[in-house]
Amino acid sequence: MFEATSQQELRKFTQVWKCKGQSIALVPTMGNLHAGHLALVSMAKEQADRVVTSIFVNPTQFGASDDLASYPRTPEADHQSLRQAGCDLVFSPTADLIYPDGLENAFMLSTPAGLTSILEGEFRPGHFDGVVTVVSRLFNLVTPDVAVFGEKDYQQLLIIRRMANDLGYGIRILALPTVREADGLAMSSRNNYLDVQQKAAAQHLYAVIKDVAEHASRPDADFHELEKAAIESLEKHELIADYLSIRRANDLAEPVQGDKTLRILAAVWCGKTRLIDNLNLHLQQ
Ligand code: PAJ
Repeated sequence: MFEATSQQELRKFTQVWKCKGQSIALVPTMGNLHAGHLALVSMAKEQADRVVTSIFVNPTQFGASDDLASYPRTPEADHQSLRQAGCDLVFSPTADLIYPDGLENAFMLSTPAGLTSILEGEFRPGHFDGVVTVVSRLFNLVTPDVAVFGEKDYQQLLIIRRMANDLGYGIRILALPTVREADGLAMSSRNNYLDVQQKAAAQHLYAVIKDVAEHASRPDADFHELEKAAIESLEKHELIADYLSIRRANDLAEPVQGDKTLRILAAVWCGKTRLIDNLNLHLQQ
């Protein structure tokens, strides 16, 4: 597996591949890789001749009270996992490469309000501007044919799809369903913050979302009542919800009569750790 931290090093590899007519898939990550990230790499391998995984803990997507300083950084273990997963190149850009004029003076992209003022955007103002800014920079540096993202961060996935489309990147955006622990908990680097007791409580997030999906499929279902009951049920397990909401899958708007392809999205606090999860909900009738 090759490694690159500068634009010159990166181009050395990508240009050779492009000259040979090989396609490139990009898997953007913030490191501390788990089986969910590695499943993205496997999907990327199926979709392109070469896989580049980027590792960059992006400061502009963290709010002032977020966990930027304590975010787990495990480069050696990450490189080893990526090598085993068959990644061709790990790209770990320096902060200077991504933000050449510093963070205060950074050239930022801004995301349209419709998708970013709701759900995660409401509770993490500025977060998605940071995400699209770094992802656009990675797209420009790596110039992949395909990029792979996880459904775990469903709103992020929709926003990146919009960005790739609206800014004309011509990069195919692929999505991988959420990889979960045996107890249903969505894999996340932030699960490392949980103690044993919290981990036991955290599994109820997915259990409650699944329960909502089951009840919401009934013809007489009242979505707002279901959301309220689910938030109360989470509270019983000491999971304090920022939101739990049934939305339209394609644009995250509130569903109206006749909408069939929906998504249940939730964010909860488990002690000082914030967890997110979501599940698709397809209504039959
Ligand atoms: P990070 O949280 O490291 O996640 C990197 C990618 O892995 C994202 O596409 C995320 O959705 C996916 N992922 C995380 N957990 C997953 C799981 N359990 N199953 C499937 N996929 C999973 O998301 C980010 O980093 C950043 O915002 C980034 C896009 C890299 C921009 O900085």
